[in-house]
Amino acid sequence: MFIGSVPKDVMLQMHHIVDFENYNNAWVLCSGSFRVDSSISSTYEKLKVHSNDVNILSVSIGQLAVNETVKFEFINKLAFVEEYLTSRNGCGFIDRVASIAASMQIAKFSSKNEYNQIHQKHIIQNFGIFHQKAKESIQRLLDKLPIASFTPGDFIEQAKKARPETDIVIAFPPTYKGGYERIFKFVSENISWVPPEYAIFDPKTLDRFLLELMDRDISFCVYGDQEMENLKCGGKFLSNTNKPIYLYVNNIERSSFRRKSQTSRQFKYQEFDPATATAKSIVNVTRMDSAQMTFLKNVYLAKRISHVSGMFNYCVFIDGKLAGGIILSLSKYGDIESLYVLSDFSVSRNNRLSKLIAMIATSKDIVSEIERRTLLKFKQLCTTVFTEKPVSMKYRGIWNLYSRKEGFLNYHSPVRNQSPQQIYIEWFNKYNK
Ligand SMILES: C[S@@+](CC[C@H](N)C(=O)[O-])C[C@H]1O[C@@H](n2cnc3c(N)ncnc32)[C@H](O)[C@@H]1O
Repeated sequence: MFIGSVPKDVMLQMHHIVDFENYNNAWVLCSGSFRVDSSISSTYEKLKVHSNDVNILSVSIGQLAVNETVKFEFINKLAFVEEYLTSRNGCGFIDRVASIAASMQIAKFSSKNEYNQIHQKHIIQNFGIFHQKAKESIQRLLDKLPIASFTPGDFIEQAKKARPETDIVIAFPPTYKGGYERIFKFVSENISWVPPEYAIFDPKTLDRFLLELMDRDISFCVYGDQEMENLKCGGKFLSNTNKPIYLYVNNIERSSFRRKSQTSRQFKYQEFDPATATAKSIVNVTRMDSAQMTFLKNVYLAKRISHVSGMFNYCVFIDGKLAGGIILSLSKYGDIESLYVLSDFSVSRNNRLSKLIAMIATSKDIVSEIERRTLLKFKQLCTTVFTEKPVSMKYRGIWNLYSRKEGFLNYHSPVRNQSPQQIYIEWFNKYNK
């Protein structure tokens, strides 16, 4: 549906480099496919994500995401789309937006040769199928796009709204001058609307834009396809098919040392007693926010350690009672296929309950929920145990000891292809003694 999305491994690098928990607002410029917006807004619940773009499809999706609409009419070669929409009962704004996306398929075959003409005819004749597919993928995108605002308009103007200290600018501006205007030429000629005012961006001026942000002391993470000597490059991504992508960052190191607020919010719960576990007990894993998890960490984790906040917090409930907590984060060590378990704790030391929590931390249900939120893919989990002992009794037999270092042990585990309930049954039969 979109051209020029940020590649997934490039996006993962952004998650490693930027500590989004330090910011109140993220200004995502040139949102395009909303891949970045979706990944960060679904991952960091407290971060307000502000999106922006100028093309008719991204503008319409952005407005849909904030429950607004855009006025436009299909005309000329796309006039049949208006008839198609009128002939269907109960069409909403999402149907109109899906029709733009389906029309982009026609645009791909807009030159006059016979091959293209046959393709165009096929899409027009089967427009309903293309429309339905586009509607489903837009709906999937909207389901994980909790953005705070959307502004149609020039990204350089939008960047002026960012404030030092509390805000960060994220952008992947066009890498060809006028490239997006060419991509949207067909729909612009055949859909009548009032486009937002903006200047066609010349990628040669990217350094000027970044230097302006630096002058204003704004944190940023911006992608470009040119190496700029006067700017610090936080990463370079090579691919066989596309030009390299460079990642420019500012203020990031400073901001990652900023003190994190560890707000704690109390909630009512009953503790699970492992002696009451039965083969029929029901296990539920619930997502928690970081303030609730801070409250539990203060109760169950060693007080002498300053515990870092994780990105993903879960509690394990057995028969409705709290059995333990799991705090995960993206690996900070550039290992793009691993999730890092910052801590997993149980409410009781009895019956090896802690083993159950450490096993559930690797459940496919938890990992795939994080994958859906971050749009990333993970093969394994890692954790560190700070101990002078040669093995950890908790992880022994359920995770693999990967390395032994002075004062700590590194454990790895593949993702368990089991639900928390299936893991519970395994634990119940093997360890609950
Ligand atoms: C490289 S794409 C963005 C990729 C996006 N981050 C993603 O992952 O899909 C560039 C986007 O910039 C938008 N754009 C072009 N000129 C713009 C301008 N002056 N202001 C705001 N957006 C602009 C285009 O419509 C296009 O969607």
